[in-house]
Amino acid sequence: MAGSGVFEEIFDGEVFKYYVDGEWRKSSSGKSVAIVNPTTRKTQYRVQACTQEEVNKAIDLAKVAQKSWARTPLWKRAELLHRAAAILKEHKAPIAECLVKEIAKPAKDAVTEVVRSGDLVSYTAEEGVRILGEGKFLVSDSFPGNERSKYCLTSKIPLGVILAIPPFNYPVNLAVSKIGPALIAGNALVLKPPTQGAVAALHMVHCFHLAGFPKGLISCITGKGSEIGDFLTMHPGINCISFTGGDTGVAISKKAGMVPLQMELGGKDACIVLEDADLDLVASNIVKGGFSYSGQRCTAVKVVLVMESVADALVEKVNAKVAKLSVGAPEEDSDITPVVSESSANFIEGLVVDAKEKGATFCQEYKREGNLIWPLLLDNVRPDMRIAWEEPFGPVLPVIRISSVDEGIHHCNASNFGLQGCVFTKDINKAMMISDAMETGTVQINSAPARGPDHFPFQGIKDSGIGSQGITNSINMMTKIKSTVINLPSPTYTMG
Ligand code: G3H
Repeated sequence: MAGSGVFEEIFDGEVFKYYVDGEWRKSSSGKSVAIVNPTTRKTQYRVQACTQEEVNKAIDLAKVAQKSWARTPLWKRAELLHRAAAILKEHKAPIAECLVKEIAKPAKDAVTEVVRSGDLVSYTAEEGVRILGEGKFLVSDSFPGNERSKYCLTSKIPLGVILAIPPFNYPVNLAVSKIGPALIAGNALVLKPPTQGAVAALHMVHCFHLAGFPKGLISCITGKGSEIGDFLTMHPGINCISFTGGDTGVAISKKAGMVPLQMELGGKDACIVLEDADLDLVASNIVKGGFSYSGQRCTAVKVVLVMESVADALVEKVNAKVAKLSVGAPEEDSDITPVVSESSANFIEGLVVDAKEKGATFCQEYKREGNLIWPLLLDNVRPDMRIAWEEPFGPVLPVIRISSVDEGIHHCNASNFGLQGCVFTKDINKAMMISDAMETGTVQINSAPARGPDHFPFQGIKDSGIGSQGITNSINMMTKIKSTVINLPSPTYTMG
């Protein structure tokens, strides 16, 4: 049960505490924020509604703790991360239970998220030891007009205090993908978890606490975005923001000021299907890519662009697979579970209604009970329909029939997003040329879009984000280069 066993100290019996200065505390606000279970639509948990003063305190403590953490040997930082990873994996069951209750993640996927997170933290520790243990050595006479009289030594140093804001759909995994790189690089970390997913995140933070990280180095602040959101993101004590989520990221980017940003803000990931594609492979990938976690992944297949000549055959195969998806509660490990909130379900329904009014073909009957929406494939979608461009973040997938590959590429590139895309063909030359033409951070050939494995670079262009993630890139992003130049007293020494 959430908040029991080793997690007892994070819960006061009614409200989950927040984490600061190496302790679990109640907010002085005396207020809490409710977390509604998407399945039952009743309050499942409560977390502290922290105040701005508590944010100030966490950042002040982080500043102090970071100074000595930066001087802690790299191997010791790695050792603590490995310990946290092991504790996280050991306690995967209670953390996964929170994911099931807070964000309706299917039971097996919830466990997978926690295990994947432990693996990510371990890999980060190892990668950090390797890449942060290296620097550069340059000599001046490579540049015209210079003698061999200056030696430049560069190394990577931490940025200071990193603010990590993960999204509801991976509140553990996309938190540790920020926490791990921040810590190994010698930074302190302030985590602001999403409201849905906050309790899973608090459990995860407790695993770092149990691992024995220094007091003040990590804090986890819960509360209302309206109260502490802007305050945190515009705080002068924050030296870098790593955010994953939706439109809020655009607003944060505009307000943040002169700090490095790592932003991942969603996508409209296109799946281009050529005439020679293996349609069984395509259908499996569309169903897995489009409907896993009910389409609530930034990397979900969000529009199928299929050549007209194979469209009927593909739609038939996809429909056969959609018919086999189980729909129901996350506890039963159903394939399709309720979407995260009522407002999200209403938004998805708005896209469906628009598509209906404009003449899309419904391959299944539209069905909704509360936040639960049955999987729906919409065929013959045209560019004048909202679903052709907008991200439903739900189990509704549009199919646009195309008469040329160029038409597919044009649709993909006309999107404001540019996260990932995929192309299915047996012709590798064509696949490479299409990949080159698609304006997205990643193109998958013959597979659905996906972020992992987690050491791969992961980036979006246009409204899909700023910077590149993936373990190595995140470590590099959370450091800056420091040079020390040794100036020799006289021109080059000559023998004899
Ligand atoms: O929702 C955004 C995530 O970065 C997607 O990750 O491809 O592992 O599901 P995933």
